[in-house]
Parts: sequence; C-alpha cells; structure tokens
Amino acid sequence: MKKCNAYIAGVAGYVPDYVLTNDELSKMVDTTDEWIMTRIGIKERHIIREPGEGASFVGANAVARLLEKTKVKPEEIDLLICATVTPDHQFPATANIISDRLGIRNAFSFDMNAGCSGFVYALITGSKYIESGLYKNVVIVGAEKMSSIVDYTDRATCPIFGDGAGAVLLRKTEEDLGIIDALLQSDGVGRVHLHQKAGGSVKPASHETVDAREHFIYQEGQPVFKWAVSKMADVSVEIMKRNNITPENLAWFVPHQANMRIIEATANRMEIDKKQVMINIQRYGNTTSATIPLCLWEWENQLKKGDNIILASFGAGFTWGAVYLKWAYDGK
Ligand code: UT7
Repeated sequence: MKKCNAYIAGVAGYVPDYVLTNDELSKMVDTTDEWIMTRIGIKERHIIREPGEGASFVGANAVARLLEKTKVKPEEIDLLICATVTPDHQFPATANIISDRLGIRNAFSFDMNAGCSGFVYALITGSKYIESGLYKNVVIVGAEKMSSIVDYTDRATCPIFGDGAGAVLLRKTEEDLGIIDALLQSDGVGRVHLHQKAGGSVKPASHETVDAREHFIYQEGQPVFKWAVSKMADVSVEIMKRNNITPENLAWFVPHQANMRIIEATANRMEIDKKQVMINIQRYGNTTSATIPLCLWEWENQLKKGDNIILASFGAGFTWGAVYLKWAYDGK
C-alpha cells in the first residue's frame, strides 16, 4: 500500500466577544500597558463572559465553523480530540461534550492534556489514525477558558492568558504534502515551575485550598521563560536540519504564543526573519492549546499549496515539540 500522510484540510477559530484590555487590567492589579507590552507583548485578550459556559463553548463554536467551511457533516467525523487544560469538568471529557453539542455521534472522542503543547501532541496523535488508514475525518481542537484558572489579583500571571479555540480537520493524501515529521518531548521535572496546586486527586478542593488560592495557575516566570526559549528553539532547529529546511525555503514558522520575547528569541536561534513568523499574541494573549490553530486560521488566506511550515510549542509538564508540515491547499 502506498504511504499516505495526514494533511490539514481546513482550519477555523473562535474567540469570545468580550475583550479584556491592558487598561482594564491596570485597574485590577498594579500594572501598566507599557510593562505588559514591553515584557510580554500582549495588548488585549478575549474572555468568556457567557454564564455557565466553559471550554466546550469556544471549542464547539470553532468546530462548527470548521465543519461548515469544509462541508463535512457531523456524522462523517470518525475521531475528535480536544486539547485542553481547562476542561468543562474533571470528567467527562470536553471532547465528548463538544461532540454532543454538534451532533457528532459516529466518532470516539477524548481529551489530551499537554499544557500549551496540547495542540501539537493531539495533531500528531490524530495524524496516526489517518496514516494507518483507520479513519478518514479527524478533528483536532484546542479549546481553553484560561480565565477560569487565572488569578486576577496576581499581576505576574493575569496579563498573560486569554480564552479561545482553534480546530483543524485532518484527512489523508498520497501526495508529498501534509504532516511530514514531528519531534515531541516532555520532562516532568519541570512541573514544579508551572502547575495548578489543588483540585486534582493529590489535593482535592477544600475550603483551605480555595482560601489559599490554590486553584489558580502557579507559575515561576523566569525558569519557564528560559526552558521555553531553549527547548522550543532546539526542536525547531533540529526538525529544520533533518528535513533540509533552511530560512530560505521555510514559508512560515508558527510558534506557541506565550511571550513576544520568547517568540523573537526562538526565531533568532532559527536564523529566520520575523516576517516569516505568525504572531497574533497582541490580540489574543496566551490561549494555551488554541494559539497555534488560531494563527493558522488567521493566516490561512496567505498559505499556498506546498508551503513549508514549522509549528513549535512549549508548555506545562514541561512539554514541548515541533512539527514539520507541507501545506496542502491554496488558502484563497
Ligand atoms: O505558555 C506556558 C509557558 N509560559 C511561558 O512561556 C511564560 C514564560 N515567562 C514569561 O513570559 C515571563 O517570565 C513573565 C512575563 C511571566 C514575567 O516577565 P519577567 O520579565 O520574567 O519578569 P519577572 O518575573 O522577572 O519580574 C520582574 C519585575 C518584578 O518586580 P521586582 O521584583 O523586580 O521589583 C515583578 O514583580 O516585574 C514585576 N512584575 C510586574 N510589574 C508590572 C511582574 N508582573 C508585572 C506586571 N506589571 N504585570
């Protein structure tokens, strides 16, 4: 049998309407637009304000747009993987809820938690079901309500995160296109620097954990920053080298959007121009599993068949990874 690749056959995104600006944050904590722009590079982020809605709200909206534009019916989906660190509930999986909201009833669906690398982990996992010939239509969605775990009294973390979702459809091709190579890694030693202290089985929710604000994101910014720059750059450089990708034949670099300075440092290590880098952190902040598909969605019109694209991420775990793909269709 001829080898087939999984390729991205469509991409869609969704962010909630409400926009939280730096000026508004400056009224909540001791910060300024100038500090946030210089140190992180974020101007505004979108926040879910709809009562009773969680990650599945943005996830289902993104997948609904994806199905509409790719003209694939809900019953034709074989598998849906939702990457998230902010599931609607501890269980059942948010992927099950998204599927139910959209009438996706012939698929199996599950969540994947790999911090900010959730999307690339899920993308590669989903691609294997296509390459093996088992399934035809696989949806990968990164969906987050980061605002549900952000401490809006902590100035060191509250400017960083936003809510949103991005989704892609994977199908098979026998052409030399689609997902060509991936390098995914993790090291649990990094978990001390970035985690949520309570709410899991080690420390279930109690009055004490709530009083101690342990259900919010705990982050030691500087070690995370250093690991992010070195690991994201290492895997990106490595995947370029082993696939003969040079700054000249690379069309786009799509980094996880955590901090403008991390993105710039990674691009420098890859010796690529900032014009080759998809950056929308200014408007969405760090939407964790959703940053990479939200970039692809916004740049889709500019993408051409055969474009060499590198995706790269770093996140809680620690987890990190890079994916090399050849874009499979003209975006226009
Ligand atoms: O996607 C998951 C992975 N996460 C990341 O990649 C995040 C990686 N880390 C970072 O992006 C950066 O470390 C932060 C944006 C979190 C922090 O930036 P930094 O340049 O590392 O600042 P810092 O933590 O070293 O703090 C420097 C100063 C401190 O004041 P002192 O101690 O020097 O007086 C902070 O208290 O900046 C202060 N500070 C602020 N000042 C104004 C921290 N947050 C703020 C703020 N406004 N929002």
